[in-house]
Amino acid sequence: MRVFITGASGWIGSAVTDELLAHGHQVVGLARSDGSAAALTAKGAEVHRGSLDDPDGLAEAAKAADAVIHLAFIHDFTDYAAAGRTEHVAVQRMLDALEGSDRPFLLASGLASAVPGRPLTEEDPSPFHGADSMRGGSENLALSYAERGVRAVALRFAPTVHGVGDHGFTAQLTRIARQHGAAAYIGDGSSHWAAVHRTDAARLVRLALEQSPAGSRVHAAAESGIPSRDIAAAIGAQLGLPTVSVAAEEAGAHFGWIGHFFGMDIVASSERTRELLGWEPTGPTLLEDIAAGAYTLPE
Ligand SMILES: NC(=O)c1ccc[n+]([C@@H]2O[C@H](COP(=O)([O-])OP(=O)(O)OC[C@H]3O[C@@H](n4cnc5c(N)ncnc54)[C@H](OP(=O)(O)O)[C@@H]3O)[C@@H](O)[C@H]2O)c1
Repeated sequence: MRVFITGASGWIGSAVTDELLAHGHQVVGLARSDGSAAALTAKGAEVHRGSLDDPDGLAEAAKAADAVIHLAFIHDFTDYAAAGRTEHVAVQRMLDALEGSDRPFLLASGLASAVPGRPLTEEDPSPFHGADSMRGGSENLALSYAERGVRAVALRFAPTVHGVGDHGFTAQLTRIARQHGAAAYIGDGSSHWAAVHRTDAARLVRLALEQSPAGSRVHAAAESGIPSRDIAAAIGAQLGLPTVSVAAEEAGAHFGWIGHFFGMDIVASSERTRELLGWEPTGPTLLEDIAAGAYTLPE
């Protein structure tokens, strides 16, 4: 397939680009800078210059492709609401361009809509609807096009898609531990994060592209939930720093914007995803990655 990927230059997107190219697909990657364009060209991908603020250009690129994988997101946690609204408009325009085509549209989202007392499953809908809700309500927006001739699929990534070179949440926790001279967890550290290695996530995206039916939600969660105190302990051990508890009311001051996410209990099953796609994660676990120095190697 000729696949238009937004966010093709990002952490997950560059691994997805490699995975698709290695399996005989063609990739057209969205790039908003010369650097991102050059990196894509060097891999053997084509480039579509543009940005999330250019919905017309995105619609045009979507129309010209056999499939779309939407991975770009403006990770500006100081104005998350604006990022969500931009996302909503961009996604809507690409979906409108694909309406009636039966082509795949895969959209990245997260596993943040926890269900108290049990793991989130693929059958649990996202509670977010509309441009002003979290992440622009884009997951529900996309899945609503399953009835309008689009093979819409929600890719729900674990909060840490980990590995060497990750600049996301686990890298941020490691930076904060260095700054404070201690690796912290919140309260008793019993909140969890699901996790997936980047290569497993990329393989899952390809399998979903090739096989997922319209309207499905797939969970990129190799590990269903790791206690936050274990994550902090692993980071502390690797840095040679003590592991400490921070009270919930101090979490914002200690962790900044990531405190909100680190305190969330995000436990998710991927049983149905594995059954549906034959996906079996093979990469290292999060704690193995941390212990192997994935977050502490010199940059
Ligand atoms: N990584 C994780 O642990 C994780 C966990 C859960 C969910 N997710 C979700 O998965 C998706 C991919 O995440 P990621 O970790 O790969 O993100 P990332 O490394 O931060 O990459 C973001 C991508 O979006 C592009 N982008 C940002 N702003 C843009 C704009 N205004 N116009 C066009 N492109 C723009 C970036 O392009 P440039 O190269 O030009 O900057 C980059 O390609 C996102 O939706 C993310 O929220 C990720």
